[in-house]
Amino acid sequence: LHVAVLMGGWANERPVSLMSGEGVAKALEERGHEVTRIDMDRQVAARIAEAAPDVVFNALHGVPGEDGTVQGMLDLMGVPYTHSGLATSVIAIDKELTKQALVPHGVPMPGGRIVKSAELYERDPMQRPYVLKPVNEGSSVGVAIVTEDSNVGNPIMRDAEGPWQKFDQLLAEPFIRGHELTAAVIDTAEGPKALGVTELIIESGFYDFEHKYTDGVTTHVYPAEIPEEIERLCCKYALEAHRLLGCKGTSRTDFRWDDERGEDGLFVLETNTQPGMTPLSLVPEQAKHNGIEYGELVEMIVAAALR
Ligand code: DAL
Ligand code: MG
Repeated sequence: LHVAVLMGGWANERPVSLMSGEGVAKALEERGHEVTRIDMDRQVAARIAEAAPDVVFNALHGVPGEDGTVQGMLDLMGVPYTHSGLATSVIAIDKELTKQALVPHGVPMPGGRIVKSAELYERDPMQRPYVLKPVNEGSSVGVAIVTEDSNVGNPIMRDAEGPWQKFDQLLAEPFIRGHELTAAVIDTAEGPKALGVTELIIESGFYDFEHKYTDGVTTHVYPAEIPEEIERLCCKYALEAHRLLGCKGTSRTDFRWDDERGEDGLFVLETNTQPGMTPLSLVPEQAKHNGIEYGELVEMIVAAALR
């Protein structure tokens, strides 16, 4: 096959996407496919048309590669592409829209609300500790946890460092103490399959950008050492999110679990439609634990795009 690997772009997650894209491109080449690497710019449509690939492997993260924009362009061009389509991407990139799609179907997600950053200078949006995050970023870009002892004042001070300086609107959610868990789903010829649950354990702070992409600072425990019922629920919710949102190829659903609250303490934070494919990324790691090597995983994602 001739595969155009789309990567880079101008999202905050550009460096992550370049790592994902290079990993994917190399694996495809090793498996005998012809590969064209495309670092996305505003001429991307012309460059794809010129390359005329059989399929585009979308290795972009964030906006506009994960939010439906690129998907709509490729739909219009009639070029098959990996991962989720336009409508799914629009919903899943937005953590608030994702809640509206999943919560009515019984998938638990934390309650929260959208706040204007300026409101934070007037009052805290909820009792501390709470989390502030942009609705449509990935890799924890712009995420802050506001605790009683955060040195940002109460309410947050106008000149304090934080995502309120860069983002006009933020999603505020109660902070869930306890465990950081994740569960991947891949589409096989027989249908979507959950790959199990990984727990991410860090020394201090939270699973932020640095903990996600620095080797050796986060311990990945697979299978997560959690009660069987919690593991079962994670896989169930990951599959339900994949199905309800209409994800394709692969998706990865992230959770927080408060062990002091048992089953009631499990919450989906979000579903990623373009999960990372870097050497430290979780979907390739879970696939490997299931006997699927990186190259084979890439091949499966491509196959799902052509089914
Ligand atoms: N947003 C990053 C790439 C992930 O979900 O893995
Ligand atoms: Mg994400």
